[in-house]
Amino acid sequence: MGLFQLFGFGDSIGIDLGTATILVYVKGQGIVIREPSVVAVEQDTGTILAVGQEARRMLGKTPGNIAAIRPLREGVISDYEMTERMLKYFITKAIGKTSFVKPTIAVCVPSAVTEVEKRAVEDAARQAGGRKVYVIEEPMAAAIGAGIDTAKACGSMVVDIGGGTTDIAVISLGGIVVSDSIKVAGDNFDEAIIRYMRRKHNVLIGENSAEQLKINIGTAYARTMPVSMDVRGRNLITGLPKNITVNSDEMLEALSESVNTIAEAVHGVLERTPPELAADIFERGIVMTGGGGLLYGMDKLIAERTGIRVIIAEDAVSCVAYGTGKYIEYIDGAPQREKRQASRQKRAASRQKRDEKREKRQSKREKS
Ligand SMILES: Nc1ncnc2c1ncn2[C@@H]1O[C@H](COP(=O)(O)OP(=O)(O)O)[C@@H](O)[C@H]1O
Ligand SMILES: [Mg+2]
Repeated sequence: MGLFQLFGFGDSIGIDLGTATILVYVKGQGIVIREPSVVAVEQDTGTILAVGQEARRMLGKTPGNIAAIRPLREGVISDYEMTERMLKYFITKAIGKTSFVKPTIAVCVPSAVTEVEKRAVEDAARQAGGRKVYVIEEPMAAAIGAGIDTAKACGSMVVDIGGGTTDIAVISLGGIVVSDSIKVAGDNFDEAIIRYMRRKHNVLIGENSAEQLKINIGTAYARTMPVSMDVRGRNLITGLPKNITVNSDEMLEALSESVNTIAEAVHGVLERTPPELAADIFERGIVMTGGGGLLYGMDKLIAERTGIRVIIAEDAVSCVAYGTGKYIEYIDGAPQREKRQASRQKRAASRQKRDEKREKRQSKREKS
């Protein structure tokens, strides 16, 4: 704890390096950046043209020599260099506005990344100006962000459905006891919708349209009130644009395989969970985070498959970012906490000494 930090200059930053979205949390300010994990690159020169929101607008609309890349798409860092540059861009953007002293950075990475990839992220964060860099596992951050007391000797289950991966973990005593990570999540839902539209309607729709269908009328568990939506695509027979009305029952059909794979994976993790912890989870419910968890009926489907209540965390898409932020505040506060505890112990010891002396004096007086 240096002088700078004492005056509030030593920022700490928590970053959720998600497969779909990057969020940056700055201590004292909250979430300052929330942008898609997309980079637009000029292919022949390798020059980065845009990052985040601006790059995303180019997805699927780029001319031949420009590529819009999602470097973390499947939960693994498929494009090492782009990830590094994207991370640096966002860190600079976040701290440029807030501080001139190097911050402490906690980055949360998808749990499927390898040790080598983790180190790459760590290096990138350090090069971007991190004084100290921590890399945290996603389920841990999600749990902390969802308000779970992870240090307790009590089992909690977190299911985070992101863009590229679904991460399922049982946490107790500050560690992950059982976990699984599958590559079925939000992106996969979009792809399933695209496939369905082609198969059933002979219409080709784009990724953005598929995502809109998913968010607006997507369904994992039969709706009591069916809804529908219009979407525009290309008729694969005539080759011409076509408007088509799609309803939520069709979405249930399109998504059924993907959502059941997730429910099955949750069930699988529960089967491998030690009985005592499983009993805790049964009592407290399963906590769901991530954007994919907002798909209509996903909670009901998992609840039905497992027989356990499912709670969608408050602000489910920001949980991981808040979690990384809280984690770093905790780590940063650790030396202070130790000092406080030491002085508390010292005071208690001197109090005890004083009491002992007093007792001695009293007993002497009583004797005389
Ligand atoms: N209301 C919603 N219903 C269904 N899916 C959603 C909703 N909001 C966001 N999503 C999906 O959530 C995914 C992104 O979730 P997020 O937790 O940000 O992913 P990541 O952590 O991998 O970056 C995307 O596939 C997006 O389409
Ligand atoms: Mg995430």
